[in-house]
Amino acid sequence: MITKIDEHTITDATLEQMATTSDARLKEIMDSLVRHLHAFAREVDLTPQEWIDGIAFLTNVGKTCTPVRQEFILLSDTLGLSSLVNALNDKRAFEHGTKTSLLGPFYRQDGPPLPLGSKIASKENGPDIAIYGKVTDVQGKGIPGAIVQIWQTDDEGAYDLQKDGAVMDLRGIFHADAEGKYYLRTILPTGYMIPMDGPVGDMIRAQRRHGYRPAHIHFLIGAPGYRELVTALYMREDDHIDSDTVFGVEDSLITMPKKGDSHSPYPDMPSIHFDFKLGAAAEDGSGRVGADPSQLVKASH
Ligand code: BEZ
Ligand code: FE
Repeated sequence: MITKIDEHTITDATLEQMATTSDARLKEIMDSLVRHLHAFAREVDLTPQEWIDGIAFLTNVGKTCTPVRQEFILLSDTLGLSSLVNALNDKRAFEHGTKTSLLGPFYRQDGPPLPLGSKIASKENGPDIAIYGKVTDVQGKGIPGAIVQIWQTDDEGAYDLQKDGAVMDLRGIFHADAEGKYYLRTILPTGYMIPMDGPVGDMIRAQRRHGYRPAHIHFLIGAPGYRELVTALYMREDDHIDSDTVFGVEDSLITMPKKGDSHSPYPDMPSIHFDFKLGAAAEDGSGRVGADPSQLVKASH
């Protein structure tokens, strides 16, 4: 029994009171959280004003969340936590396929189903590009009918959700053909600043960070029996390719449309050729790191 609460005894007192937690994993997580949180407060000698500023900041992060905006995920992204959880999750994979990357806050699970070859962008002012390749298992065998979801920014660096949430653009859901091949047309995406008009933007400015993500195209690829792949392709020529604000870039995912690719189904268009490899699913499912923001707001009511 601890009788005197002070800066040295408070951690054990808290752990002792939480010892009744019946869920073993919840206990492990909460015990560790309390130990690290207390160690952090002791390390920086947190003042009452800083503590209340932190609470005001997190309150503001919560208030900024809507069905189409997830400021908490953005906070996690910019603190490197999402990328870390992604890396830890990848280590659990049963078979290792294409490297993963962040899902980000602009995924919509109800994107438009489109036939192979469709152009996902309504804009006609290009530059038009083609993307094609094969979805395979780790041995390189095509996965017929694999579902390829894609979403990206326009030539000004904006997602549809940031303009008029009701209009779907620059996204689509495709089914690979009988050999696992996919092909589609789009426009070259532009790099963009993460949403900077909320509390996370204030944090980024206070830290003198540029706030940009290099141009990229998101993919979520799945097929029965395979581990869902959440990834993105990053454009090599972007100025911020080496300093992504949310730590999503990985060398094997860096590419650039190539002119004159005679293997492309659209040889007259600059084309990205990328084959995606899916690992076999583990028994306990895939554990996607991220979610459609509208699902998180619904779940909290
Ligand atoms: C994105 O890729 O869409 C994204 C990811 C993390 C934060 C902001 C945007
Ligand atoms: Fe993105």
